Amino acid sequence: MKRLLIISILGVSTFFVQCRSKKLTNSTMSNADMRKIMSVAKKRWPDIKQADIDSGRSIYKTKCTRCHGEKQIMSRTEVLWQSSINKMAPKAKLGVEQKELLTRYIFASREAGIN
Ligand code: HEC
Repeated sequence: MKRLLIISILGVSTFFVQCRSKKLTNSTMSNADMRKIMSVAKKRWPDIKQADIDSGRSIYKTKCTRCHGEKQIMSRTEVLWQSSINKMAPKAKLGVEQKELLTRYIFASREAGIN
């Protein structure tokens, strides 16, 4: 009985992990774009990981589209983005770390010329 429980817990968590990774690497971003973003990001923040960019992107796609559509990253300067992010982070209830991940994703995408 106990064994069955463990097996089903494992099964359910595998299912969620699979869903999650599918969502993060969704079709709108090609591997080539992701590599471009990462190479820009590495120059600015040498300790950055692929997972940080994935998290920033997922924060952007979920928390920042609750009240309005997705804003075009390329349509504003970095200075403008910084002030919008400062204004929007509390609206989206982002913590300090989430705000930093989002900022890095947006700045790196902009510099890489993506979105
Ligand atoms: C609770 C609702 C809400 C959430 C969540 C939200 N926004 Fe906004 N956003 C607004 C409203 C309302 C406006 C337009 C009025 C204004 O400028 O305050 C706006 C405007 C903007 C603008 C236009 C320029 C500007 O600075 O006003 C940008 C860019 C933006 N949001 C980005 C974001 C980002 C990035 C996030 C995620 C961190 C986010 N928004 C989350 C409500 C929201």
